Amino acid sequence: MTQVSMRVDGVTYTDEVEPRTLLVHHLREALGKVGTVVGCDTSNCGACTVHLDGQAVKSCTVFAVQADGAEVTTIEGIGSAGDLHPVQKAFHEMHGLQCGYCTPGMIMASIDLLKENPNPSETEVREGIEGNLCRCTGYQNIVRAVQQAAGEMAGRSDTLGAQA
Ligand code: FES
Ligand code: FES
Repeated sequence: MTQVSMRVDGVTYTDEVEPRTLLVHHLREALGKVGTVVGCDTSNCGACTVHLDGQAVKSCTVFAVQADGAEVTTIEGIGSAGDLHPVQKAFHEMHGLQCGYCTPGMIMASIDLLKENPNPSETEVREGIEGNLCRCTGYQNIVRAVQQAAGEMAGRSDTLGAQA
């Protein structure tokens, strides 16, 4: 076992992990961050996407030990029921989800995309979230949601820095 310490959604956790433990399993099973989900065993779906030191990563492709000393943000750390992140709000308003299983990863990938490109075209949104799969929506409303969030965040330039 190896000791790892990481700050997750603003709280520092120190735990013993096996070297083979994946970050997504550590988040869910040790830290109770079950908002981050596993949708595949091939690193394809993106449902497990979190931010690692500010960058979107598929947490099933990272060992927990690799996140030692890092800042991790999950879907549970970006907003709350009464104070949704603009991307969460846009997914809700634009019906960017159906079953919702892909949504945590989609939202985390979208926030990272908007940080890099605050005003993406439809094509750029599609390219930006191409690592995230959705079986339900056909993507159209997801793209609309990301573009709506971009518009809202353009008027609230402090939002990403404060919450992402
Ligand atoms: S669970 Fe990580 S990519 Fe599918
Ligand atoms: S809403 Fe069901 S997989 Fe995307």
